[in-house]
Amino acid sequence: MGIRNLINITDLGTDELFQMMNLADDIIENPSKYSETCRGKTLGTLFFEPSTRTRLSFTAAMMELGGNVLGFSEAASSSAAKGESVSDTVRTVGCYSHIIAMRHPKEGAPVVAADRTTVPIINAGDGGHFHPTQTLTDLLTIRREKKRLDNMVIGVCGDLKFGRTVHSLIGAMLRYENIEFVLISPVELKIPQYVKDAMDKANAKWTEVRTLEEAMPRLDILYMTRVQKERFFNEEDYIRLKDTYVLDLKKLEVAKKDLTILHPLPRVTEISTAVDDDPRAKYFEQALCGKYIRMALILTLLGLDKEVK
Ligand code: NCD
Repeated sequence: MGIRNLINITDLGTDELFQMMNLADDIIENPSKYSETCRGKTLGTLFFEPSTRTRLSFTAAMMELGGNVLGFSEAASSSAAKGESVSDTVRTVGCYSHIIAMRHPKEGAPVVAADRTTVPIINAGDGGHFHPTQTLTDLLTIRREKKRLDNMVIGVCGDLKFGRTVHSLIGAMLRYENIEFVLISPVELKIPQYVKDAMDKANAKWTEVRTLEEAMPRLDILYMTRVQKERFFNEEDYIRLKDTYVLDLKKLEVAKKDLTILHPLPRVTEISTAVDDDPRAKYFEQALCGKYIRMALILTLLGLDKEVK
């Protein structure tokens, strides 16, 4: 088999996703079984954009597999600041590592990177495009909470235009039966047409609404997102739209008792901190799932997933 990359969540087949989630479940149950599996392997983390959870969960994942990590956490501390191309940076780091996770503000940068190196490339977020490892995290969290990935009404709320986590999540959920999406956003931050086309092609049911209140009673999952400040062309628009949605305990009064509230984080103002103590709030569990699914992903892309007995 050739080099495996993860650029878009659709790069993984449904069976493969299922196996990866099973592997993550097993890692959660039996962490010591996996503590030496990546001994002698190095993960490169090339982050040209800020990150807390994605970069540090990749780092924690590789460390808990017994491997090493090197990299940078901002473009300014790499040779990108001297004008080096992404291709050259990736080709170089490919000489020092066995697998690379990269985040870049330009859509498509990981595709260019994958073409220039012989080590697997993981897209850790490319501009407003995709974020497949967040989606793996989301799927694992949903499966652990709901014990299924089909037959659900999923509300996605906030910045559906620039929110790459939403684009990837919808792309992934379309492969499961009877998923309905309720898209909750201001007109200016509606989901891109290509995502609508994908939903139509998969015959998925979807509706666009303006308020959280009208969507709330039917939802099984509520996926909140931050308004993506860094992707706006002018600050005035950001300021006008940033507080459009604030999830609070009052709005949750009409929600299902077994609603699962997710958020890729970081949160700004869109979820009141009072919601954190509601048993339906699962966004910090989600952050933890991110470490385990990234362990499973690293093992899979390095072809080490079958080595552990
Ligand atoms: C998300 C991202 O980077 O797209 N964060 C993350 O990886 N957990 C969401 C966001 O920044 O709003």
